[in-house]
Amino acid sequence: MQRVFPGPPVEFEPGAIYDDLHADLPESPAGRPYVLLNMVTSVDGKAAIDGSAAGIGSATDQRLMRAIRAATDGVLVGAGTFRADKTNSTVGREREAARVARGLSPRPLAILLSRDGDLPFDREDFARPQPNRVSLVGGKTPPERRRKLAAWGRLFAAPTPEPEPDWALRTLREECGVRHLLVEGGPQINGILLAAGAVDEICWTLAPKLIGSGEGLTMLTGPALDSPRPLVLHTAYLHDGEFFFRYRVGR
Ligand SMILES: NC(=O)c1ccc[n+]([C@@H]2O[C@H](COP(=O)([O-])OP(=O)(O)OC[C@H]3O[C@@H](n4cnc5c(N)ncnc54)[C@H](OP(=O)(O)O)[C@@H]3O)[C@@H](O)[C@H]2O)c1
Repeated sequence: MQRVFPGPPVEFEPGAIYDDLHADLPESPAGRPYVLLNMVTSVDGKAAIDGSAAGIGSATDQRLMRAIRAATDGVLVGAGTFRADKTNSTVGREREAARVARGLSPRPLAILLSRDGDLPFDREDFARPQPNRVSLVGGKTPPERRRKLAAWGRLFAAPTPEPEPDWALRTLREECGVRHLLVEGGPQINGILLAAGAVDEICWTLAPKLIGSGEGLTMLTGPALDSPRPLVLHTAYLHDGEFFFRYRVGR
C-alpha cells in the first residue's frame, strides 16, 4: 500500500492506514456530529451490482471500512441500504479491544434512518435486541412499526413527518453522545445530508472494476445540490490498483 498524496510516495502495511484515524478527526461542530461518508464505486462510477454494494471493493476495502467505523461513535445507513445489504457496525476483534482500551464501547452504534419504518422485520437481525442500535424515524411511522423498532434498539421519532437531517444529527449528538458519525450510504441519504450542508468528509474507494450500463446507481442521488461542492484532497493511498481517497468537503 502506497500513500500517493501527500507526497513523496511512502509504503504502508496494506489495510493499516486508518488505524489511527480517530486521532486525525476534527472536533465535532456545535449541535451535530462531525460527519464522514464512506462509499466504494467502480471506475465507471457505479455504487451497486444488482442492487447490492457487495463485490465492488476488495478485502482491503472491507478491512478499511471496519477501521473507519472503529474511529467513530456511530455508523448510520438509510433504510434503502438497510433493506438491500445486511449492514452492521462490526469492527473486528482487534479493533474492539483497541476501542475498549480508549474507553469506548467495543463497537460504534448501529444507526438506521427511515422515513416510516417499513423494514424487513422478519429478518434475523430483528430477532435479538442489542444495546448498541438506534433507529431514527419520521413522525408518521405507524405504532406497530415503532413497537418493533423499540424492541430492536433505541427509537427516536421525529416531531415532523420527515426525519429531517438537522433533527437526526442533533438527536445523535445530544441524546446518544455521537461526536463522530460515519454514514455508509446509501446514495439518497448521502444526497440529503450533502444538500443540508452536513457532510464534512468523504472516504471514497475507487475499485478497479467496470460494472456497466445495467446498473444506474452512483454515490449520490437525492436532492440536487444548488452548486457543485468543492472537495479538498486530504490523503490518497493505492493498493493493487485500488485507490483510497479522503476528501474534506468545502463550504
Ligand atoms: N457502494 C457503496 O459504498 C454503497 C453504500 C451503501 C449503499 N449502497 C447501495 O445503495 C442502495 C441503497 O441506496 P438508496 O439510495 O436506495 O437508499 P438509502 O440512501 O440507503 O436510504 C434511502 C431511504 O432513507 C430514508 N429516509 C430517511 N430520511 C429521509 C428523508 N429526510 N428524505 C427521504 N428519505 C429519507 C427513506 O426510507 P423509507 O424507505 O423508510 O422511506 C429512503 O427510502 C443499495 O443498492 C446499496 O447496495 C452502496
